[in-house]
Amino acid sequence: MVGIGLVAGLITTLVAVGFEWLPKSASEQQDRIEFVYWFATIICIVIFSVVAGWLVYAIYAFRVKPGDDTDGPPIHGHSGLEVAWTAIPAVLVIAIGVVTAVVLSRNADAGPNPLHIKVFAQQFAWRFQYPDNGGFTSNELVMPLDRAIKFEMTSADVIHSFWIPEMGQKQDLLPGVQTSIVVTPTRLGSYTLVCTELCGAGHATMRGPARVVETAAYTEWAKKQHEASSGGGGAGGAAPDGAKLFAANGCGGCHTFKPAGSDGQVGPDLDTLADAAKAAGASPEEFVKQSIADPNAYLAPGYQGGVMPGTFAKTLKPEEIDALVQYLLGKE
Ligand code: CUA
Repeated sequence: MVGIGLVAGLITTLVAVGFEWLPKSASEQQDRIEFVYWFATIICIVIFSVVAGWLVYAIYAFRVKPGDDTDGPPIHGHSGLEVAWTAIPAVLVIAIGVVTAVVLSRNADAGPNPLHIKVFAQQFAWRFQYPDNGGFTSNELVMPLDRAIKFEMTSADVIHSFWIPEMGQKQDLLPGVQTSIVVTPTRLGSYTLVCTELCGAGHATMRGPARVVETAAYTEWAKKQHEASSGGGGAGGAAPDGAKLFAANGCGGCHTFKPAGSDGQVGPDLDTLADAAKAAGASPEEFVKQSIADPNAYLAPGYQGGVMPGTFAKTLKPEEIDALVQYLLGKE
């Protein structure tokens, strides 16, 4: 009977493994996570099949014959069986625990020379800083192939969570706390970084582009970004660019604004700011500036307070806010 159960378990396992349940792995860490996943799943499938096999057999073999009203024989248990069904699960659970602990510890190990990338999250956008390549910031995550990357992460407002499905690793970002996670990409291509912690009305739109490229291409990209951010070496750097700020701060995730090609529906449409300023009884410049720095001071009809982060007055420099105002009013 155990034999039949094991054969059924083997067949079920082959069927289960035959489907692509998980995204194709793109990191060393995800390879290990998949190993734990299948290690535990196959054990469960085999145990289920053995138990279900016994159950079906017992229902068939020990069923009551018609007209048989006698009691069954008294049973005093079976020490051998009891030892077996205690010892085998104990060994299996300990094995799963040990394998998991080894994988968790190896997945947290960045090795002697990781690339550092800082991650900043805010409602509802991602921003990355590359301290090992001159410290420029980007709203695209670019990673070199086959290099351990240590992400050091924090949030400007509420709890967010970092996850690239193909790379497995997942970690929360908390305001005022730095968390970290290690990813070693093993496959070239474009991926999506998604937020997996409900963080407000725009949570579902909080996605960012992530790309894995060859080391040489990464070095070249980083060099270009660094040169662009340092303004070609001129004193004081380039003037802030409203369009870039709009993209980098994730404004399009919540707002529709035609010049930026964004169609967010969480907050008011920004194509009619002049009319909104009139309705609020302020000059367009003052109105837009106030709406960025203190979003709850005036609420557009039909919109709730407390949705847009009130942190931009702190995270943006005054000249950056001015550049955004000019861009939003079409004066750039
Ligand atoms: Cu950020 Cu959900």
